[in-house]
Amino acid sequence: MAKTSSLYVCGNCGQEEHRWLGQCPQCREWNSFAEMKLAKAEGKGRGAGFRSGRSEGPTREVVRPIPLREIGSARDERLPVHPEEISRVLGGGLVNGSVVLLGGEPGVGKSTLLTGLALDWVRAGVRVIYVAGEESPSQIRMRSERLGFDPQKEEGFQILNDVELEQVIAALYADREAHPGPCVVIADSVQTLHSREIDAFPGSVSQVRYCGGVLADFARTGGCPVFLVGHVTKSGDLAGPKVLEHMVDTVLAFEGTGGGAIRLVRAVKNRFGATGELAVMEMRGDGLVPVDEAGALFLSGRRGDEPGSAVCAVRNGSRTFLIEVQALVSPSHYGTAQRVVQGVDSKRVALLAAILEKRAGLDLAGCDLFVKVAGGARLDDPAADLAICAALASSLREIPIPADTLLVGEVGLTGDVRDVADRTSRLKEAARLGFKRAVVAAAKTERRTEQGLQLAAAATVTEAVELALERTRSSSG
Ligand code: TYD
Ligand code: MG
Repeated sequence: MAKTSSLYVCGNCGQEEHRWLGQCPQCREWNSFAEMKLAKAEGKGRGAGFRSGRSEGPTREVVRPIPLREIGSARDERLPVHPEEISRVLGGGLVNGSVVLLGGEPGVGKSTLLTGLALDWVRAGVRVIYVAGEESPSQIRMRSERLGFDPQKEEGFQILNDVELEQVIAALYADREAHPGPCVVIADSVQTLHSREIDAFPGSVSQVRYCGGVLADFARTGGCPVFLVGHVTKSGDLAGPKVLEHMVDTVLAFEGTGGGAIRLVRAVKNRFGATGELAVMEMRGDGLVPVDEAGALFLSGRRGDEPGSAVCAVRNGSRTFLIEVQALVSPSHYGTAQRVVQGVDSKRVALLAAILEKRAGLDLAGCDLFVKVAGGARLDDPAADLAICAALASSLREIPIPADTLLVGEVGLTGDVRDVADRTSRLKEAARLGFKRAVVAAAKTERRTEQGLQLAAAATVTEAVELALERTRSSSG
């Protein structure tokens, strides 16, 4: 007998509770719990009824543990992905039977990206099934023709025009039986799918979670990778799809950079590769095209002779980007001093400001601090500490940092400057882009030059700030 039970799931972080709560104990979000009704059929797991010929009868064989050597490795079963930019973010191709969640704001280009990938797969003989929830099949045809598809020739691109999960899954299993070759499923978007089993609206936490789970089951049993497209909210969270994050193998975040044509795809979670890898693409009239010269992308439009601007070299996976940090320090006239930051964690800025006050004697109390990362980039790399500190100091003292000076270093609570991982690759990229001088940690710095850059070694943040501002001060008198 089927029995229904309820579970309450936080729409923000995915926390599960057996009763409704006003505030999530995990993420502290208010009013985020939604009821999720589960129809439990005895002896069957989630989505078990869909697997043709696999779940009949309540008697199951007793499972036994098996040694590692009897288990095939997933590593050699990767489907090649083009372009290379996206392949790298996925960890070098797409693992068979894996589930990838692609999250991004509406209109950022998720469907365009996946249609572009589909084109390459279809040409390589891979069957692509596009579950059309968002758009009509004719709209999808229009987009794919724009991206270079020839519907007469490229037969491997299949549109599945249904949003009812049970129908979709039945069609997918039937298709697998008829065409057992390599295949990729794209569900665009997971929020438009709905299951008869769940008593909730499409896009609700319970529907998204259930549909995602069943599609993930299909990916694993059908041996066919599945892309789930998920919309994110304005705050940038994969809310709704957040509940999917733990059941998928890879989470890709797709972001724009403040209105321009540049798009960033980063792996937020990856069971089959490193996170932090970043793909840089440009949205053109004929689809998304990888950007090769991405190192200086975030520096374009920089004048470099203004106080409050500092450049750091950050690593995103295997690539280096030079990024400009801008700071504005001004006396605060109205009560509590403001701390407004964009593109970097505000607590980190508060921490660095406290270090500058306490260890470098900068009088930042009573000042409003504004910190912004140019070009819509995000600074998570600790190596950017020094640039943030130097930008603040430069703005406070109204002395510019020379345009050809790079700052690379982590700042400790004691005000010490620490060396960072991959320093050589960072300096190399900066030298290639015309930088002449780098302020770095004194530890492990015996040489005067590295990768063609003149090194200025600092043991403390005080020294680093002096070195960063030094040349302009002496040249300007
Ligand atoms: P889309 O992939 O539909 O976004 P999403 O699926 O994330 O909602 O693309 C949105 C925008 O991209 C749309 O405004 C049109 C633009 N676009 C291009 O600039 N070039 C193209 O080749 C295509 C297909 C779309
Ligand atoms: Mg879309």
